Amino acid sequence: MSDVQSTAERTQKKGPARAAEASGRAATGKVADTALAPVITIDGPSGSGKGTIACAVAEELGFLYLDSGALYRVVALASLNASIAEDDTESLVNLAETAPIEFTRSLCGDSEVLLDGQAVTQQLRNEGVGDRASRIATIESLREALLERQLRMRRQPGLVADGRDMGTVVFPDATLKIYLTASAEIRAKRRHKQLIEKGMEANIAGLLADINERDDRDYNRAVAPLVAADDAISIDSSALTINEVVTKVLDFAGNRL
Ligand code: DC
Repeated sequence: MSDVQSTAERTQKKGPARAAEASGRAATGKVADTALAPVITIDGPSGSGKGTIACAVAEELGFLYLDSGALYRVVALASLNASIAEDDTESLVNLAETAPIEFTRSLCGDSEVLLDGQAVTQQLRNEGVGDRASRIATIESLREALLERQLRMRRQPGLVADGRDMGTVVFPDATLKIYLTASAEIRAKRRHKQLIEKGMEANIAGLLADINERDDRDYNRAVAPLVAADDAISIDSSALTINEVVTKVLDFAGNRL
């Protein structure tokens, strides 16, 4: 992955990042060049809202944002484009290691994911791509191939990373770990609303079945299954607005940054 310009570099800094900058320090209070950047991890199942929440928290703190699911999705898309079979592990891992993936600026807001220089952000949201991403994410060597790309995103003034194993595997020493859930029914309804708003056809029963199937794979795979880290704070977003969840996360973060 090419170097990514941080959200902090592209947006006006807010909150602790801005306050820290004013005093010439990184948001951690440590010297920017030498300190290990703080990381906030947000893990949870598909549709729990972790992308929206992580993005908002990153913007608020002036931190970089890592959408780790986009990495799995972009490898899935590249493999579909190259007609690589799902059981051709060697070719899939090779793609994960070598695919020319770039995030323009941060992944938040108006940025794009590029594959071979082409913007593919919209295609990544396609159900077929998500389904393949969830399947290839069960391959241990493919996960290892993507690990280094994720670790490189940890830079000052800090990172908000969302996915399934951010707090358990990729950043076990994270400053704050959130485990975000919502009932499968609520997640299906949210997805239905999103699709209808985009003018696409959608059926709640079908979406619920897809969510249950993907959950089953994400929770039960042998490698890096979706599980809350022991030291994660769980938030059930079923009955909360986006703003309410963001406020909770920022409150928890405020105590630790
Ligand atoms: O968060 P998402 O729906 O964009 O992720 C797509 C798939 O990628 C998901 O079904 C499982 C996989 N994934 C993963 O295994 N580990 C991550 N850290 C992120 C995503």
